[in-house]
Amino acid sequence: MITPSSPFAPFDDVLVAPDRLKERIAELGAEITRDYAGSNLLLVGVLKGSVFFMADLARAIDLPLEMDYMAVSSYGNATESSGVVRMLKDLDAPIAGRDVLIVEDIVDSGRTLSYLIDLLQQRKPASIEVCALLTKPDRAEVDIDARYIGFEIPNRFVVGYGLDYAERYRNLEYICCLDEANLPTIEPARTRAQVEEGHPA
Ligand code: IMP
Ligand code: MG
Repeated sequence: MITPSSPFAPFDDVLVAPDRLKERIAELGAEITRDYAGSNLLLVGVLKGSVFFMADLARAIDLPLEMDYMAVSSYGNATESSGVVRMLKDLDAPIAGRDVLIVEDIVDSGRTLSYLIDLLQQRKPASIEVCALLTKPDRAEVDIDARYIGFEIPNRFVVGYGLDYAERYRNLEYICCLDEANLPTIEPARTRAQVEEGHPA
């Protein structure tokens, strides 16, 4: 992982330091452990942003549980989702009767999660709740009633601990802001989905 002193670290404000992440995830894990005692818990991680959070959160929960993943692509530019969502990878198994906890990196407009909740609700889980590491309350367009929230953050574009800008910076061990007026020039290879969606090279 990239630390603040690494030559690959972006020069921007550290918003959530590694110790604070660890502390808060332990608290969320303890809360989830209490709330889901005796239930049939399935963590659903939303790829790719939630991978580090999912891995740490799952280990902070002292219950038997299962983990599954789905991947969606929200059409939009690098820093804004449009609300039009396409499924890239569905869950491996049915969720009927399961207590589903969606694990998401960040709720921005809320559109991606709103789509996912509607979709999973149709499969008749016993319950469906959301655990989001970050929310940007100032940006909310669709009301997502996340039961667990790690941190409420200001309306800044953030990267690290799973969150990316143009697929980079996911491997920072902390969360930091990127200056939106002065974003670094990154020309990553396009993903297959981006090619299909007609993203410019
Ligand atoms: P929403 O549909 O607007 O809520 O956007 C949710 C998705 O957009 C998240 O799952 C992230 O993948 C991405 N996103 C939103 N804000 C940020 C950010 O500040 N940094 C990195 N990704 C973000
Ligand atoms: Mg995401």
